[in-house]
Amino acid sequence: MIKQNGFKILGTAVPRVDAFDKVTGRARYGADYNLANQLYGQVKYADFPHADIISIDTTEAKKLPGVRAVLTAKDVPGDRTFGAVIINQVVLCSDRVRYYGDAVALVAADTPGIAERAMLLIKIEYKELESVSDPQAALKKSSIKIYPKGNLCIHHKVRKGDLDKGFGESDIILEREYKTQKIEHAYIEPEAVLAEPGEHGGITITGSIQNLYNIRRSVAKVLNMPLNRVRLIQAVLGGSFGGKDETMSALCCRGAFLALATGRPVKMVNSREQSMRESYKRHPYKIRYKIGVTKTGMFKAIESEMYADVGPYASMSPFVTWRSVVHATGPYRFANVKTDVYAVYTNNCYTGAMRGFGSPQVCFAIESLIDELAEKLGMDPYEIRKKNLLKDGSITATGQKLNHKVGVAQALQSVIERSDFQNKWAANRQQDKDSQFKRGIGLSCSYRGISLGAEGTDAAGVIISIQTDGSLIVTTGLVEMGQGAATTISLIVAEELGVTTEKIRFLYADTSVTPDSGPTVASRTTFMAGNAARKGCSELLKRIKPVASELLKCPVKSLKFESNNIINISSRKGTPDKISFAQLAGACFQRGISLYTQGWYKGPHTSWDEHTGKGEAYFTYVYGANLAEVEVDCITGKVRVIDFYSSHDLGRTVNLNGAQGQVYGGVAMGLGYALLESYSETNGRPQLENFDEYLLATICDMPPVDVAFVENPDKLGPFGAKSIGEPACELAAPAIANAVYNATGMRIRELPLTLEQVLLGKNLVRSDERGSAKARSKVS
Ligand code: MOS
Repeated sequence: MIKQNGFKILGTAVPRVDAFDKVTGRARYGADYNLANQLYGQVKYADFPHADIISIDTTEAKKLPGVRAVLTAKDVPGDRTFGAVIINQVVLCSDRVRYYGDAVALVAADTPGIAERAMLLIKIEYKELESVSDPQAALKKSSIKIYPKGNLCIHHKVRKGDLDKGFGESDIILEREYKTQKIEHAYIEPEAVLAEPGEHGGITITGSIQNLYNIRRSVAKVLNMPLNRVRLIQAVLGGSFGGKDETMSALCCRGAFLALATGRPVKMVNSREQSMRESYKRHPYKIRYKIGVTKTGMFKAIESEMYADVGPYASMSPFVTWRSVVHATGPYRFANVKTDVYAVYTNNCYTGAMRGFGSPQVCFAIESLIDELAEKLGMDPYEIRKKNLLKDGSITATGQKLNHKVGVAQALQSVIERSDFQNKWAANRQQDKDSQFKRGIGLSCSYRGISLGAEGTDAAGVIISIQTDGSLIVTTGLVEMGQGAATTISLIVAEELGVTTEKIRFLYADTSVTPDSGPTVASRTTFMAGNAARKGCSELLKRIKPVASELLKCPVKSLKFESNNIINISSRKGTPDKISFAQLAGACFQRGISLYTQGWYKGPHTSWDEHTGKGEAYFTYVYGANLAEVEVDCITGKVRVIDFYSSHDLGRTVNLNGAQGQVYGGVAMGLGYALLESYSETNGRPQLENFDEYLLATICDMPPVDVAFVENPDKLGPFGAKSIGEPACELAAPAIANAVYNATGMRIRELPLTLEQVLLGKNLVRSDERGSAKARSKVS
């Protein structure tokens, strides 16, 4: 049941429960863990993006004093491969390297310096192979094959209606192609693990790990051990954004090998250069659209073909690209749909989960396309969207009926009104052609399926343990990685039990203690852990309410749990009217009542038919709109984002500071995606290795961000809450690109909007840096 109002603490601005530890330096990140007698591990990386390994000679490295182990693939105790979906990633390469961040050998030594010197003494003889770096070229028959079966990792499709009929009914058909770049997660904390050989021949690994259970499965598989002997403990995470998943599988496996081989703890901490070289990135996409519309601006049909660069390992690509194909039509009504995505192996750095998970790419493309269509029709970008937005009861591209309040029009209305969009948009088109600084305004909308959807089993558990003094311990298999989960889950428990968040100690995940709750991804934590926490609380309340009623001498229905007290709301003078939560906890303990429970929540049904391209893809959706105002310097090409408005229908705000923080961070990442970031490679070789060349948005680039939430409580969500983490990150880039068009009349169909592109309308980045000019030519 959804309480419409009258919350005790939900939705208020409370301090982050982890704030004090973080700002005082007391928080322990992966690299802060040390053990007596520990060794230092190092990875020997590939010398080529694609090559056969002829021989590996570790003799000299082993002779170096202080070196305790040098390991290669033949020392791997179990399977050599792992993977969350398609099992093709290797812990150490044996006969072939497939990208420049592949690992060939490992060293453990007494000091990091000795380990590094030993790396230089490992001699590897290679036969370099031709590499393939363009996904479409990789699909050609003539292409070299990275795997015997060919370079197609996966193809997904969505089908609805009759495309020919839809285009037949259209007055205007527009075809466009967009490109998005590869980007790096750029978490401030590079990857770190400390692996300790444990009792029973097992292993304990503490580190910067986002998805402990996926990674534990990989480690157990390559070590050939049962899951209960592999213990993964989450350190405080200095950012992840989807990034500390498969990269950590590899690092955890390697740390474990070295620890088991030497019988000593092994610490492995990536440098920034190693992290940038090895860790997977956000998929670059090439996206072609064909859209049909009537003269009055009603959408009739849409077709899309997308190519995503997977690199050599599948990682999360099958799921990432599925999310793209499902969301490719944007938050609009189309009766006729055909979308296809091809995920293709190449010899570039592999790609995987990154905040947005296949949506930032399609959101940039579709929202640019809609603006281009509006221009063709002589409509304004707001008007055309309003006519076609999804509404209550609409049928999505995959054939799913939206049985909830669809908040996209409200979100759009909110940014339009706050910014005075239509007046500014029209005025900007009348700017003096010769002025150096031109203003622009642009918008974007999106919808987004929450949680895993038809990707897989969706369930989670939260452990709630009331101590005898009324303080609480809360823990779950889902992780705090900076996104605010610890505070949000604490708030839900606090709301249910009538305590304050200071009473709650949130413990980080530990695979030997917390329940496997699936991965902390897909903006699912508030929804999944929130529902699980509510179930746990309701179980505890069932146990403790009778005791409170006994102590307060009143019926259970007269009890009110609030501000760390239990109040008898029907009390008359002379009877005790209130006891503390601590008193109640103590009394329950004395009566032998268990104050410990796990709430478990299984997500509602979803479905997908890969053959028909139809299904109930997600159990519910969130909606959002962004609006950017920019000032373009027409002499330098510099785009300054000067104002920003954001609105999201997140169902219900649980953690106000946290939700706003997600939007500020999401906009900052989106701004970097729009204007600055690019992880460039030439024939599989990265062209940069650190943040001096990889341009990230900083506080200096950030405009004020005006956030407003729309609340349409969802019948499935905890107190109606849905999600905000990823929705906040997919909308900024198209809003900024559309604003640049409004300012300059120049449509840029490729991210990022570099100075050269903005100035000259084409990408003039050094050809040695970004591939040949031919590969970058655009359809228009
Ligand atoms: Mo995420 S990109 O769903 O970890």
